[in-house]
Amino acid sequence: MKLISLRHPLNSKPVASDFVELDIPTPECPDQGILVRVVHLSLDPYIGSRLRGKHMGEAPPTPGVEAIPGAIVGEVVQSNLDGLSKGDWIQSMEGGWQEFVSLKEGAFRKLDPTQAPLASHAGVLGMPGLTAWAGITQLANVGEGDTVLVNAAAGPVGGTVGQIARIKGAERVVGIAGGAEKCAIVTDTYGFDACIDYKIDGWEAELKKALPDGLSIFFENVSADMAITALDNARTYARGVLCGLAAGYQVQSQDRVPNPLPMGTIIGKRAQLFGLVVYDFYSKWDEFAGEAGKWIQDGKLAFAEDREEGLENAPALFERLMNGQNRGKAVVTVSPEKA
Ligand SMILES: NC(=O)c1ccc[n+]([C@@H]2O[C@H](COP(=O)([O-])OP(=O)(O)OC[C@H]3O[C@@H](n4cnc5c(N)ncnc54)[C@H](OP(=O)(O)O)[C@@H]3O)[C@@H](O)[C@H]2O)c1
Repeated sequence: MKLISLRHPLNSKPVASDFVELDIPTPECPDQGILVRVVHLSLDPYIGSRLRGKHMGEAPPTPGVEAIPGAIVGEVVQSNLDGLSKGDWIQSMEGGWQEFVSLKEGAFRKLDPTQAPLASHAGVLGMPGLTAWAGITQLANVGEGDTVLVNAAAGPVGGTVGQIARIKGAERVVGIAGGAEKCAIVTDTYGFDACIDYKIDGWEAELKKALPDGLSIFFENVSADMAITALDNARTYARGVLCGLAAGYQVQSQDRVPNPLPMGTIIGKRAQLFGLVVYDFYSKWDEFAGEAGKWIQDGKLAFAEDREEGLENAPALFERLMNGQNRGKAVVTVSPEKA
């Protein structure tokens, strides 16, 4: 089977040529586990840091040996577990860039393949969707009358944040995204009230106009600078979810500019800031997927995908993701849903 590994250890932003394809024997089905055919592979921004050993203390994969880590949706081809049989569908955070994976009990969730399109379990119903739901409902406790601002809004986290906010009663939902094409996804596909293109001069003034009464919740995916802009537009008692720093993941530590926390603004506005790590919410995944699966069926929750077919195309799509050039959720379909 095919597996994609690192060609060499990394210490800078990954590019497609940093990866190498290997041909290795298909793994055995473990005694207490399952063998899975990988169908959809999720590419996520944190993997860029993970490959350099800079994500939550997790070691990078061994170059030329181990698969690049990644969440997957796959079909069980062999099972040594009660309650799981050939043909069942699972989602796992321990899949990786490979055609087959052996998984031990506890390393996956069983899926209902009729709940929603299978690839959505890599995005809107997968880890990015759970992140969005956890931050906006469990931490920020969004509800009636809220005005929500979220950036990286064309992506799976940002796009889902805004839509869930609307479903839960938010009055106004505004996104920030890079470029007209992404802003069109935010307003036309996700149905936000407005999207501000931060690549255009004067965007901060446009943002103020889009938030005439200020914001009550902001959801930060990109940078401390952006969070400061959000705080400037915040009402008193605003809540802020600090979810990601996409603009900083690939910056070398010596090039980082210290960014002072605007303590006076936070205190003066009595703002509450929540750090979010999705791991804390894995126990609620089925609850979230049940709720969000229904929203998809009812046409209330949309998702955009930037999809490539074939494992060999993962490195190029990953390079685009690292440069913020993805349009929606980056997904690789490794093998067809119907084998
Ligand atoms: N805390 C957690 O547990 C957790 C879990 C999952 C995800 N996250 C974070 O949530 C954020 C969104 O994730 P996602 O999967 O939905 O990603 P995504 O939106 O598909 O991709 C990241 C986006 O960040 C923006 N960006 C801004 N500056 C960038 C730069 N210098 N380089 C690359 N991208 C840049 C780009 O959008 P624009 O062009 O629109 O700016 C890019 O498309 C990320 O920061 C991710 O790490 C956190």
